Amino acid sequence: MIFFFGVHGAIASDPAKIVGPNACAECHKQEVEAWKETHHFKTFRDLPRDAEAKKIAERMGVRRIRSESLCVNCHYTVQRKDDKEEAIAGISCESCHGAGKDWIKIHSGFSGKTAKTETKAEAQARWKLAESKGMIRRHALYQLAKNCYGCHVVPQEDLVNKGGHRAGSAFELVSWSQGEVLHNTWYSRGKDNVPADAARKRMLYLVGLGVELETALRAVAKATVRKPYAFFMAQRVDRARNRLVAAAKVAPNVPEIAKMVEYAHSAALKLNNERLLTAAADGVSNLLTSITEKYDGTTMTGLDGLIPVTGQFKGTARKASAVN
Ligand code: HEC
Ligand code: HEC
Ligand code: HEC
Ligand code: HEC
Repeated sequence: MIFFFGVHGAIASDPAKIVGPNACAECHKQEVEAWKETHHFKTFRDLPRDAEAKKIAERMGVRRIRSESLCVNCHYTVQRKDDKEEAIAGISCESCHGAGKDWIKIHSGFSGKTAKTETKAEAQARWKLAESKGMIRRHALYQLAKNCYGCHVVPQEDLVNKGGHRAGSAFELVSWSQGEVLHNTWYSRGKDNVPADAARKRMLYLVGLGVELETALRAVAKATVRKPYAFFMAQRVDRARNRLVAAAKVAPNVPEIAKMVEYAHSAALKLNNERLLTAAADGVSNLLTSITEKYDGTTMTGLDGLIPVTGQFKGTARKASAVN
C-alpha cells in the first residue's frame, strides 16, 4: 500500500483509492449541489486561467498547474486510472472525507440489510469498519480540521518565499465551515441545510484553534531561512496562542486549553528548532485527541462570546431544496 504524506504529516488521499465526486453524487445529490457553489469546486476550472497562479507557477518552475504535484496537492483531487494520474476535480468530497474506494460500499450498505432491518450493533460495526478503511465522518472533528488546516496554513517554505504564494489566510473553523462549505442536507432528508448547534460550534471553535496551533508549530519547525514564511508561521502560532489564552480564561472547566498554551510556549519560535517544536506540536495533538474524546461542547458555554456569528461566515450556505 502506498501512502502519500503531505507536508503537515497527515496522510493525503491516495490517488489509487479516489473514486471521484460523481460516484458520491449517485446518492448525495444535494451535498454535491452545495459543493458546486464553492471555491473548492471552482478552483478546478479557474486556477489554470488565473494570472496570479501563472506567476506563482513560473517562479516555482511549474509548467502545467493541473498536472504537477506541487499545486494539485492542495487545489485538486487526483485519481489514478490505469497507470496515469489525473486531476479530476477541485477540492472534493474525498479531500475531506478520505479516499472512498475501500469504504464507499461499506458505509452505505446497511450491513447487507436495509435502514429498517439493520440492528444498532450492526450499524455500529459498519461505521467502525468504514472508518478503519479511511472514511472521515462528521464526528471525527480532529481529523476533519487537520485536513482543512493542512491546506489553509500553506505550510510550504519554498512556495511562500520563492513562489510568492500567500502564507495561508485568516482561517477559522466555525466561520469557514458554516458558510458556503455547509452541506448538512443528508440527515434532514434535504429539508434543511442544518447549521452546527451551539455545542458543536464550541467544539469546532476550540478544536479549530488547537489544530491551527499544532499545524503552525509544525510549519515553524520546517522553517530554515529568515524570510516571510518563517515570519508568517511564527505570527500564526502567536495568534492561535493568544486566542487559546482568551479561551482558557472563559472556559476554566476545560483544563486542556491552558495545557495547549503551555506546550506552545515550551519551544522557541526560531529557525532550526525542529525537535522541540515538533514535540510541542505532538503535545498539542495528544490534548486535542483527548478533548474530542472527553467533551461534546455542552459544558463549554464560556466560549460563546468568542465564537463568530452568522454575519462573519465565509460565503453563504446553500438553501436545501427538499429533494435528496
Ligand atoms: C449508494 C449510495 C451512496 C453512495 C454512492 C455514497 N453514499 Fe455516503 N451515505 C449513504 C448513506 C445511505 C448514508 C447514511 C447511512 C446511515 O444512515 O447509516 C451515507 C452517509 C454519508 C456520510 C455521513 C457519515 C456520518 O458521519 O454519519 C458521509 C460523510 C458520506 N456518506 C460521504 C460519502 C462520500 C464522500 C461518498 C463518495 C465517495 C459517498 N458518501 C457515496 C449512501 C451513499
Ligand atoms: C499547501 C497547500 C497549497 C499548495 C501546495 C498550493 N496552494 Fe494555492 N492556495 C492554497 C489555499 C488554501 C488557498 C486559499 C487561500 C485562502 O485560504 O484564502 C490558495 C490560493 C491560491 C491562489 C489565490 C486563488 C484565489 O482565487 O484566491 C492562487 C493563485 C494559488 N493558490 C496558486 C497556487 C499555485 C500556482 C500552486 C502551485 C505552484 C499552489 N497554489 C499551491 C493552498 C495551496
Ligand atoms: C471542505 C471539506 C469538505 C468537502 C469538500 C466535503 N465535505 Fe462533507 N462534510 C464536511 C464536514 C466538516 C462535515 C460536518 C459538518 C458539520 O458537522 O457541521 C461534512 C458533512 C457531510 C455529510 C453529513 C451531512 C448531514 O446531513 O449531517 C455528508 C453526507 C457529506 N458531508 C458528504 C459529502 C459529499 C458527498 C461531498 C462532495 C460533494 C462532501 N461531503 C464534500 C467536510 C467536507
Ligand atoms: C486539499 C486542500 C484543502 C482542504 C482539505 C480544505 N480546503 Fe478550503 N480551500 C482550499 C483552496 C486551495 C481554496 C482556494 C480555492 C480558490 O479560490 O481558488 C480554498 C477555499 C476555501 C474557502 C473559500 C474562501 C474564500 O476566499 O471565500 C472556504 C470557506 C474554505 N476553503 C473552507 C474550508 C474548510 C472549512 C475546510 C475543512 C472542513 C477546508 N476548506 C478544507 C484548499 C483546501
